[in-house]
Amino acid sequence: MARAQAQPNIALVKYWGKRDSALNLPASGSLSITLDSLWTRTCVVFDPTLTRDELLLDGAEHPAALARVSGCLDLLRERAGSTVQARVDTHNNFPTGAGLASSASGFAALVLAGSAALGLTLDQRALSVLARRGSGSAARSIFGGFVGMAAGTRADGEDAFATPLLDAAQWPLCVVVAVTSTRAKAVGSGAGMELSRRTSPFHAAWLAGADADLASARHALQHRDFAELAAASEHSCLKMHAVMLASRPALMYWNGATVECVHAIRALRERDGVPVFFTIDAGPQVKAVCLPTAAPRIAAVLGTVPGVEQVLTSALGAGARLLPDAEVD
Ligand code: DP6
Repeated sequence: MARAQAQPNIALVKYWGKRDSALNLPASGSLSITLDSLWTRTCVVFDPTLTRDELLLDGAEHPAALARVSGCLDLLRERAGSTVQARVDTHNNFPTGAGLASSASGFAALVLAGSAALGLTLDQRALSVLARRGSGSAARSIFGGFVGMAAGTRADGEDAFATPLLDAAQWPLCVVVAVTSTRAKAVGSGAGMELSRRTSPFHAAWLAGADADLASARHALQHRDFAELAAASEHSCLKMHAVMLASRPALMYWNGATVECVHAIRALRERDGVPVFFTIDAGPQVKAVCLPTAAPRIAAVLGTVPGVEQVLTSALGAGARLLPDAEVD
């Protein structure tokens, strides 16, 4: 038995498209920030009396997610030479499956707790490769701060893993999340990406531009250039949503409040000089990335946007880690 905690990460240069679905290999690299105050805590127990894996998510069975979880556990069992089934008990302190990257923190915590429970000692690169098999973005939540994810070129995917770029303390940005709906999304990321690959006329252009966006974001990190990071991030985000919107049928993850939040953030920056930019994933939440001093003002403004249900503020945080028993709810 072992317990682990991982936090979601938010991509600034987005991953939207796979080069191999079976191994879950991304078609382009990505760059993210790991959050601090949102978390998944997962306990994995391998129990010889079980006849199949079991999954409890926030205290309830979750049959829809069990196959993906078992798939990840199978990879761990294969490495450990075990056939023992597991009970997975996982908790999120934020809404699941609503565009807040619960699959990223979920699979990062799962592979760390699962490997420890089986007595495997895997380095962070190996954990990142395994987490990627569960969810592409989970490879990044193994690490804290700013994280780069490589698409890799190998057919076996062993070079598609994340690496840390900067610690949270090296550029302590803040994220203010405007939650505009806590309903689970209609089309999950994996299915959405496949739809975009097959049908969006912008898909090829999206992939062709990824390296330039990554280079710009990395340059911004090196120089702590907030304006350059803002420009690269918003460009990547809006291009990804253009690819989604041009898919058939169209993938429309935004609601009215999403759009209002984007306008509010742009007004804060362009009219009032507040250091902030937005990013949005496969859901209607808006994440405002800012310098820490600006966070209270941004939270206050986003809290007044009609349709915003909740505002969460988080610093950047650490990577996935094992927990002592006492730290689990
Ligand atoms: C829009 O990692 O959830 O958040 O690999 O199919 O599990 P799968 O997809 P997932 O996709 C994340 C998409 C995104 C952008 C990003 O996080 O890079």
